[in-house]
Amino acid sequence: MLNLVLFGPPGAGKGTQSENLISKYGLVHLSTGDILRSEIAAGSALGRKAKEVMDRGELVSDDIVIGMIESKLDQNPNAKGFIFDGFPRTTAQAIALDDLLQRKGTGISAMIALEVTDEELTQRLLKRGQASGRPDDANEEVIRRRIQEYNTKTLPLKNYYSDQGKFHSIEGIGTITEIFKSLTDRIIFLNAEMDLTALESDIEHLDLTIQDFEVADDIAPELLLEIDAIKRAEAEEEEEEKEERRAAKKAIKNEKQITAQKQIKIASKPQKIIKARKRLLRVNR
Ligand code: AP5
Ligand code: MG
Repeated sequence: MLNLVLFGPPGAGKGTQSENLISKYGLVHLSTGDILRSEIAAGSALGRKAKEVMDRGELVSDDIVIGMIESKLDQNPNAKGFIFDGFPRTTAQAIALDDLLQRKGTGISAMIALEVTDEELTQRLLKRGQASGRPDDANEEVIRRRIQEYNTKTLPLKNYYSDQGKFHSIEGIGTITEIFKSLTDRIIFLNAEMDLTALESDIEHLDLTIQDFEVADDIAPELLLEIDAIKRAEAEEEEEEKEERRAAKKAIKNEKQITAQKQIKIASKPQKIIKARKRLLRVNR
């Protein structure tokens, strides 16, 4: 599963980019802001409770939003993955989300932050406020409070996900198309890494099978030689793959564009190892 947290301050473009990502990757979009606004529009008790807090530009209580996300996860048992937009926003929410996903046998793949200056955020939100009438976009004071809430309560989540090796950030200023391109490049890289992890665990499993096979009494000497040769070739290939992954990571750090072909190449090599091993096991059985 690909479970992404799209992160960033109010107006960073989380909602805009989520729309593009769900159509490209077929993920379920979970925006707590959108869910809360639909509760307000429906006039529900939850919506009435949340409205005043949202209009002030403050955060709604953790219990409410965690409950909302839990029920949305339950409603989508067959999802290919989720984009979390505007959630989690506090450490308590991040811990709850990890717990909910773990119970479903999955977890967060990555957090991707859209980096945008406060000045640009304010301009974007004031502009949208004129057209949409969203009350929390209506005046600069509320926008400032939203940014302040983000800085004090939400920003610490960068460390939370960095500590898990899952934090990534990209430039959030530019055209919507340029930012979408940076996002998809990053996702291609993440997918390739996830494929590699899955393949490595397959390879470990196959190693065990071969070792078991090696202790069998009736193993032919020429077969042992063949196994040794394959193992040496695999070790060399794995070393090459490690080198390629190191280079890819370095390129990402330098904000270079990683092409899809490069990632596919990285991901496809271990497939060859597995195929070779499966062929060998079939021959030997
Ligand atoms: P929420 O709805 O999540 O709002 P937000 O995070 O404050 O930010 P926005 O949705 O306004 O911005 P965005 O990053 O999605 O940007 P967008 O794509 O819309 O939350 C609202 C409230 O609900 C919170 O204040 C809180 O009270 C409550 N809440 C929600 N979740 C909560 C939680 N987990 N815990 C507690 N409380 C919670 O873009 C913004 C504008 O910029 C648009 O007009 C867009 O067209 C434009 N734009 C986008 N990209 C670009 C670009 N590249 N260049 C120029 N303009 C652009
Ligand atoms: Mg939004």
